[in-house]
Amino acid sequence: MHLYEALTEYAKGEDYPYHMPGHKRRAFGAMPPETYRMDVTEIDGFDDLHAPEGLIKDLQSRIARLYGAEESFCLVGGSTCGILAAVSAAVFEGGHLLMARNCHKSAYHAAYLRGLKLTYLIPPVLPEFGICDALSPEQVQAALEADPSIEAVLIVSPTYEGRISPVREIAKIVHSFGKILIVDEAHGAHLGLSGAFHENSCQAGADLVIHSTHKTLPAMTQTALLHVSGKRVDREKLKRFLRIYQSSSPSYVLMASVDNAVTMMERDGEVLGQKLKTEFSELLSDLSACKHFHFLTGINSDVGKLVIHAGDSGFTGQQIYDMLRVKYHLQLEMAAGDFCLAMFTVGDTAEGFRRMRDAVLQMDAQAKPAESAKRALETPKLPEAVMSLGDAWDAPFEEVPLEKSAGRISAEFLSLYPPGTPLVVPGERITQALACDLATWRTQGLRLRGVSDEGKVRCIL
Ligand SMILES: Cc1ncc(COP(=O)(O)O)c(C=O)c1O
Repeated sequence: MHLYEALTEYAKGEDYPYHMPGHKRRAFGAMPPETYRMDVTEIDGFDDLHAPEGLIKDLQSRIARLYGAEESFCLVGGSTCGILAAVSAAVFEGGHLLMARNCHKSAYHAAYLRGLKLTYLIPPVLPEFGICDALSPEQVQAALEADPSIEAVLIVSPTYEGRISPVREIAKIVHSFGKILIVDEAHGAHLGLSGAFHENSCQAGADLVIHSTHKTLPAMTQTALLHVSGKRVDREKLKRFLRIYQSSSPSYVLMASVDNAVTMMERDGEVLGQKLKTEFSELLSDLSACKHFHFLTGINSDVGKLVIHAGDSGFTGQQIYDMLRVKYHLQLEMAAGDFCLAMFTVGDTAEGFRRMRDAVLQMDAQAKPAESAKRALETPKLPEAVMSLGDAWDAPFEEVPLEKSAGRISAEFLSLYPPGTPLVVPGERITQALACDLATWRTQGLRLRGVSDEGKVRCIL
């Protein structure tokens, strides 16, 4: 029996709960009663995420089979806890991690917690979009040749905007150096589940892979997966870190929603994937009629990520995002300086595709083209690292107005959110160019992290 079936059955039954959670499986306030009826804890017959022997063990085995991993774990703390556990298990305390600069903050948090030395792989920037592109195997090879003390490599693929790296080739290189490859595939939980999508990183040979099932599959927020394969990773250590970083009371409603999504993909993944690919290709084909906006496409782009670039429309990314939300009631995933991002998944309806197509075509037709004074977008240079992340994040600081911050050492992560990948890591020097960009984005209303409402940043004293 599947976990969600067992919970649904249990919800209909007579059992009185003399156990947690405190709502006693009764509805309080305005929440729908069904959710409470299913929200149990580790009672008899429902297994234990931290020592699975029954329903959860079966679910995890099915997940491993589906993705092509040797062992899989359900996560209820998002990919965040999968990344924390993967990095902690793959690199010794105080060790050396080679990681993509566009990693999610959880990777930096893992490095902070474990006192790691970081060396960065800088993804090239797609010049016309200002977006991080895929990493090349040559970059990884060169970095590993340059420093034998590196213990593991962490890359992000697909990126937030859907760029996919050649993981199979990268895995071969990393393994030829005897190192561990971790792939943050948070945005690719659908990969490998249909011929319509790229293969996933378990299939491509990575040692540790993290998927946010809540991002691109129909599972509830916070749900994610961690997969491990091969002999390079100490699995006992991995499980220890999962016990450390995950709640000791994992939500059964969340785990049931993973089961539900996985079952759907086991049964219908091929068809659903092909349908999404067809609908998404049709959308891109219809949108190619736009005169001003343009769209990120190509072999390295994942199916479903619609990156709308403002082109010469005269709009900023935030304005396009706001118009789509206010006028057309279309809520996008994020806005950046010159583009915004909409996500399509196997959970979308024909209406979702139609409304996006009609709105974008209409906005493009109404745009009043402006002479754009855009800078050529280049791969950014790494800010100078003056102190280690750990030392800087714990150091005394003062609040400094952005316009006076150039040249100072940052005591905080500075980023655009979402996705929150750092522009500056604590311990790095803030450049004049970045201080200007942050000030501009602030006036454009973009969501910044690390900059206060008064436009101040924390700098080391
Ligand atoms: C690339 C990447 N990795 C990891 C995460 C963390 O995922 P979660 O929200 O499931 O914890 C995110 C979240 O946006 C992300 O963009």
